[in-house]
Amino acid sequence: MKIGFIGLGRMGFFMVERLLQHKIEVVAHNRSPEKVDEIAKKGAIPAHSVDELLQKLEGRKIIWLMLPAGKATDEVMKKILPKLSKNDILIDGANDFYGNAERHSKECSKYGVNFFDCGVSGGIWGLKNGYTLMVGGPKDLFKEIEPLCKALSPKESYGYFGEAGAGHFVKSVHNIVEYVYLQGIAEGVEILSKFKQEIDINKAVHIWRPASVVRSWLMDLTDNALGSPDFKDILPVNNSVTINELRETSKSVNAYAPAFEIAANIREDKSDKFVLGKRTIAAVRNQFGGHKVEKK
Ligand SMILES: NC(=O)c1ccc[n+]([C@@H]2O[C@H](COP(=O)([O-])OP(=O)(O)OC[C@H]3O[C@@H](n4cnc5c(N)ncnc54)[C@H](OP(=O)(O)O)[C@@H]3O)[C@@H](O)[C@H]2O)c1
Repeated sequence: MKIGFIGLGRMGFFMVERLLQHKIEVVAHNRSPEKVDEIAKKGAIPAHSVDELLQKLEGRKIIWLMLPAGKATDEVMKKILPKLSKNDILIDGANDFYGNAERHSKECSKYGVNFFDCGVSGGIWGLKNGYTLMVGGPKDLFKEIEPLCKALSPKESYGYFGEAGAGHFVKSVHNIVEYVYLQGIAEGVEILSKFKQEIDINKAVHIWRPASVVRSWLMDLTDNALGSPDFKDILPVNNSVTINELRETSKSVNAYAPAFEIAANIREDKSDKFVLGKRTIAAVRNQFGGHKVEKK
């Protein structure tokens, strides 16, 4: 199987590497050329432009976009769609509001192109651990892209959920759960710091890892984050890129999600309340997604 892949950022680069490891041929393109040259060294077929990428694909084209949602994805789709043929397949792996996937699907159908929205989870550890994939799009064609899911995911870590929009919807709910989990851990860290005796917070988190009922990958990463010498310099979380999309998702289905609302508000809160908690959230996000942290 051979596909085109656009967007070699923190996610895309490792996803291509994993596809290559599973014997999928990948023609890879990125806006900045250095990444294209770098992935070519791992075995990808380099493409320094979208046109070159299209030229290097034969037959029914399958193209995976791994770009920031919004302007970047919209612009690349706009550029690429008129150059695709009927029955080609476009997969969008961005974190995006499901309504945008519905819109993208309609735009694709004007060109006879089939659209899949595929939420991806696994962050920068996906190359090693594999990715979880949440897919929406035309059911009868899912088998065409399933080999990609099998290559990217560990066993049973992908699923088809319904028509366009269903994939991004399930991924947004996954991210809502992540906000709430991480808020809970951050609150634990913050409360541990308030006790009249000095509690070794890192030790508490560390011993919660192997067998406690709150053990989880986020707890493992919290242990790593708190134990890192960098932690003392990390400033409170200051990133709200996906918050609006997640709020929109929750609102659009009239969900009652009070814990998520609080977690989302905390991520935007610039006050000096809950500073250790907000620093913990920033450090753990950096651990799983390579998300930028601000330092003193
Ligand atoms: N990081 C995570 O943990 C994670 C997890 C799941 C899903 N996601 C989603 O995956 C997508 C990619 O995330 P990422 O973490 O890989 O982001 P990233 O590291 O910031 O990479 C973004 C990629 O998009 C390219 N790009 C940005 N703006 C562009 C534009 N206007 N035109 C063309 N290319 C453009 C960048 O090219 P340059 O190299 O030229 O800048 C880069 O290849 C996002 O939708 C994100 O929400 C991220």
